[in-house]
Amino acid sequence: MNILMTGGTGFIGQALVPSLLSAGHELTVLTRQAKPDTPGLRYIQSLEALPEHPCDAVINLAGASMAGKRWSDAYKTELLASRIDTTRALITALTKLPSPPQTLLSGSAVGFYGPHSDQLLAEDSHSTPAFSSQLCQHWEREAQAAEALGIRTVLLRLGVVLDAPGGALDDMARPFRFGLANWMGRGEQWLSWVHRADVVSAVQFLLDSDCLSGPFNLTAPTPVTSREFCKAMRGQFKTLPPVGIPGPVLSLALGEMAQELLLSGQRVVPAALQAAGFEFQFKQLDGALTEIFQRPASAQPGPKA
Ligand SMILES: NC(=O)c1ccc[n+]([C@@H]2O[C@H](COP(=O)([O-])OP(=O)(O)OC[C@H]3O[C@@H](n4cnc5c(N)ncnc54)[C@H](OP(=O)(O)O)[C@@H]3O)[C@@H](O)[C@H]2O)c1
Repeated sequence: MNILMTGGTGFIGQALVPSLLSAGHELTVLTRQAKPDTPGLRYIQSLEALPEHPCDAVINLAGASMAGKRWSDAYKTELLASRIDTTRALITALTKLPSPPQTLLSGSAVGFYGPHSDQLLAEDSHSTPAFSSQLCQHWEREAQAAEALGIRTVLLRLGVVLDAPGGALDDMARPFRFGLANWMGRGEQWLSWVHRADVVSAVQFLLDSDCLSGPFNLTAPTPVTSREFCKAMRGQFKTLPPVGIPGPVLSLALGEMAQELLLSGQRVVPAALQAAGFEFQFKQLDGALTEIFQRPASAQPGPKA
């Protein structure tokens, strides 16, 4: 298959691109960076180059990072524009192609559901109001415009993707590496996580499953609370007894981002993927963390795309 990707240079792309290449696909990555082509992989800097590179499928993952930074008004604009404007421009470019691709897999996140307490959330669950929820809903609507072109459209509602090096786990593991174990706030909020290897497999599964469309939660079947995450991390690192970082401290330091991403969460399950027969390699957090932190250096994921 010829696949066009946005966001292919990012944390997920760094594992997905080599995996798609080794499955025999040809990739075109749309990027803001100047990068040299390699066998099977070419980089384009503008959608104007699209007609020269016809594609069978599109994977749309571009977006400025949601985590680790205060959401100032200017940064919120960047978070929105990097997803909504990019997706809109992509779909507009696809409408101009003599033959559009058959499939679009487009990014979203469990933030779609907004903050929730303990109830299990499947793809048909309702969302609560929050910036990340509005952003994901808008992002999904832009992608769904592809349906009018007859393109099978799949929405990837990603949980927190775990692997190393890079990604959210870099920041999450830092205190544990220094022997400090912590949960956030009261520690009862849910964290819907997924191993990056399962994201790569699920994307390939969804790419190949012509009958599947609509939203899919890309989260492991067993979300954990912040306290349970802390306990699992203590299984990997020797630490002092754990403590909670008070919510007001996090809110003061990181504002709305802390409130939405660290101090509240959602207990999401991959109902649609499991109903479609997808098998997760990493169902339990302990197993995922052991694979990530104890794998030999020679088994690190492939080179940066
Ligand atoms: N990783 C997770 O835990 C997680 C969880 C939920 C949802 N997601 C979503 O899944 C997508 C991929 O995740 P990821 O972790 O691979 O993301 P990432 O490492 O942060 O990279 C995504 C890519 O987006 C592009 N990008 C960054 N800032 C941009 C901007 N201002 N304008 C346009 N493009 C920009 C960059 O590509 P170029 O530099 O090549 O242009 C970058 O490589 C993201 O949209 C993210 O929101 C990820």
